[in-house]
Amino acid sequence: MAETQLLDGKTILVTGGTGSFGHQFIRYVLEHYQPKKIIVYSRDEYKQFVMSNESPYREYSKVMRFFIGDVRDKERLERAMEGVDYVVHAAALKQVPACEYNPAEAIKTNVHGAMNVIDASLDQNVKKVVALSTDKAVNPVNLYGGTKLVSDKLFIAANAYAGDKDISFSIVRYGNVAGSRGSVIPFFRNLLAKGETELPITDYRMTRFWISLEEGVKLVIKALEESAGGETFISRIPSFYVKDLAEALQPGIATKETGIRPGEKLHEVMVTAEDAPNTLEFEKNYIVYPQMIFHERQQAAFEAAKKIGRPVEDGFVYSSGTNSQWLSVDEIRTLLATVEEH
Ligand SMILES: NC(=O)c1ccc[n+]([C@@H]2O[C@H](COP(=O)([O-])OP(=O)(O)OC[C@H]3O[C@@H](n4cnc5c(N)ncnc54)[C@H](OP(=O)(O)O)[C@@H]3O)[C@@H](O)[C@H]2O)c1
Repeated sequence: MAETQLLDGKTILVTGGTGSFGHQFIRYVLEHYQPKKIIVYSRDEYKQFVMSNESPYREYSKVMRFFIGDVRDKERLERAMEGVDYVVHAAALKQVPACEYNPAEAIKTNVHGAMNVIDASLDQNVKKVVALSTDKAVNPVNLYGGTKLVSDKLFIAANAYAGDKDISFSIVRYGNVAGSRGSVIPFFRNLLAKGETELPITDYRMTRFWISLEEGVKLVIKALEESAGGETFISRIPSFYVKDLAEALQPGIATKETGIRPGEKLHEVMVTAEDAPNTLEFEKNYIVYPQMIFHERQQAAFEAAKKIGRPVEDGFVYSSGTNSQWLSVDEIRTLLATVEEH
């Protein structure tokens, strides 16, 4: 049964719809709503071919559309967005080393791509646009984070160009998804599968947030439902020590400290002290409201939210290192049993 009617009868375009997030989001929408059309927008025909033949997409072939296109190509985006109600922008280059080594490519996809998604959404009268961000966009120390910071700023400022149009742009920010490609869980699991007897840990003090892909999807749905424009939606999720993850994967496993890598942080941050004056805390999430307000509806949304949410303390920082919720080794082990690798 549908939770609300939000996406029923609507056309939704997902840039990067063949990626990990895209799969989980589209499956969720097909299970909970009756959309008119879901458009997957990405470059690789093979990934689209495989997806179109998989369940549940195969059974929903009347709803699913597969568009080959690059977010760098504005004309193609304009065509793909004709008649689209909602856009979820998930396409990105997101591997830190690849972005460091190919900086211009990261800028073309993550920054120029974001500008094209904004322009095409404005021109085609899309109603809501939600762009995915990452903790790496906060106080960035690598180019991936830098490009996503610029992308976030572009989406927040895009609300200024809406004029009288009924369109809003907002952001969902989350940290490393448990089990996502290239992340620490599959990395450790592969080493253990190969028979390694010692796991490398860059720094024993290192912490991360733990979020499942499903929690990320639900936050995007919430942003589609509630955003008035310019908000950054952030899940309240637990932290864990990377060394505890090793212990949870294999009790008693030996570990070796290998030193922090270039572009790596000891702790990830999702809300900075500078954001704190505009941040409200809710039961399951934080919302950072925009510092520059372009429409009355944005101010009205902030005022209405203040009646439900609690302002965070002055100087508050939402960091994986100072989080109030922590996972024990046993809790990590329980969660690991539910982690699918994507
Ligand atoms: N995974 C995480 O842990 C994590 C954490 C925080 C935030 N995020 C953010 O969440 C979003 C989705 O991540 P994900 O894990 O789903 O990534 P993913 O699995 O790597 O998927 C990326 C998707 O983007 C498409 N894509 C890449 N370049 C494109 C381009 N130039 N034009 C059109 N499509 C393009 C890819 O398909 P083609 O290659 O076929 O084009 C693929 O469908 C990203 O914005 C990422 O920054 C991810």
